[in-house]
Amino acid sequence: MGLLIRGGEVVTSDARYRAEIYVEDQTITRIGADLSVPPGTEIIDATGKWIFPGFIDPHVHIYLPFMATFAKDTHETASVAALLGGTTTFIEMCCPSRTEDAFAGYNLWKEKADGRSACDYAFHMTVSRFDQNTETQLREIVRDGTTSFKIFLSYKNFFGVDDSEMFQALTLAKELGVIVAAHCENAELISRLQQALLAEGKTGPEWHEPSRPESVEAEGTARFASFLENTGASGYVVHLSCAPALKAAIEAKSRGVRLSIECVLPHLLLDKTAAERAGLEGMQHVMSPPLRDKRNQAALWSAVAAGLIDTVATDHCPFDNEQKLLGRDAFTLIPNGIPGIEDRVSLMYTHGVNRGRMDLHRFVDALSTRPAKLFGLFPRKGTIAAGSDADLVLFDPTYRGTISARTHHINNDYSGFEGFAVEGRPAVVTVRGKVQVRDGSFVGEKGRGQLLRRAPMC
Ligand code: URP
Ligand code: ZN
Ligand code: ZN
Repeated sequence: MGLLIRGGEVVTSDARYRAEIYVEDQTITRIGADLSVPPGTEIIDATGKWIFPGFIDPHVHIYLPFMATFAKDTHETASVAALLGGTTTFIEMCCPSRTEDAFAGYNLWKEKADGRSACDYAFHMTVSRFDQNTETQLREIVRDGTTSFKIFLSYKNFFGVDDSEMFQALTLAKELGVIVAAHCENAELISRLQQALLAEGKTGPEWHEPSRPESVEAEGTARFASFLENTGASGYVVHLSCAPALKAAIEAKSRGVRLSIECVLPHLLLDKTAAERAGLEGMQHVMSPPLRDKRNQAALWSAVAAGLIDTVATDHCPFDNEQKLLGRDAFTLIPNGIPGIEDRVSLMYTHGVNRGRMDLHRFVDALSTRPAKLFGLFPRKGTIAAGSDADLVLFDPTYRGTISARTHHINNDYSGFEGFAVEGRPAVVTVRGKVQVRDGSFVGEKGRGQLLRRAPMC
């Protein structure tokens, strides 16, 4: 049975118009006025709604063994939360540690997600060690359709790679046409600064930021860019948090380095005073790179508005209160991460578009189109066009609400954005033509999501 959406206003990264959309068999087949449709077609009235392409979160953690524990979501809980928030595709970091086998890790992550996600998904494959065996396995993983790598310059001895491994990973990526995402912080400096602070008895969450200051991130960003420049590979800085790192990334872009930039919701909306709150509340706001001095936010927002920062992701990484308390005696033991997969679209619409910090098209671009283009999903995802997957978000701009752990669907007992107002929410969300969210409630099929296999693209 077909699906007709009528009465709404279509908004893509570069166009805005009133039209009807007809969906057949998972795909948008026609867009136009007064479409004639067969009897039995389901009709959805989108009067008063924006119709956006399904949003893509290019950086989430769902299954994640990290810092002596596991992130709290399952693919079922995270994907339902994602859909309620308007995200119809996420790209999860597949993160085997340095001591684990890359291929075994890749298969484990695939098994965890298989049949359990309500929305579509893909993986970035973490290269946490580089040797002959890893190289053979990475070639196989790319052949399987996972065409983006991830490296960590931080998290020494766990996920982190050294410069030699980074060089080899980038060289292979260049050969295979694979983009490399990178967490850019200097591992050695962090480790030295952490030890010095702990030795002075500075153990609380407020010392997390001073243990990885802005210069440590700027150095990592500049070094990654320089390695891209000298290997010719294409790269993507994840969760860039501060003005000095932004400067390093933009300088690299402007001299022709193939570098794209991501920032994430927490760095745009929260600042380091949240991690300076006493006790558990401070621990809830520990992530890496850390929440920064508020003065950085203006630089991030204007770079997002200008498209110099390409994408806005969440870095969704839920650890609950009990897990955060693992770090009660030392900030170095607080599991790093802040949840947000459900909140990105409404918060960016409210605090970005409605506050005049970015226009509606850049909003769609940063949260959907640009991630699709960078990671080999466009035009199947990231736009509204005949032939694209019918992933659609009918967004109600008149809705008013407040984010709270009491009402969210993320499997976590706190929200990083507790008490934040939202002006608008996804009312109806479709995944390949099937209505998964209606009236702001999940009504869909939990196992609908598919692994998106991608072709090399750079
Ligand atoms: O604090 C964070 N960001 N936790 C998740 C792991 C990472 O670095 O992305
Ligand atoms: Zn990271
Ligand atoms: Zn992350």
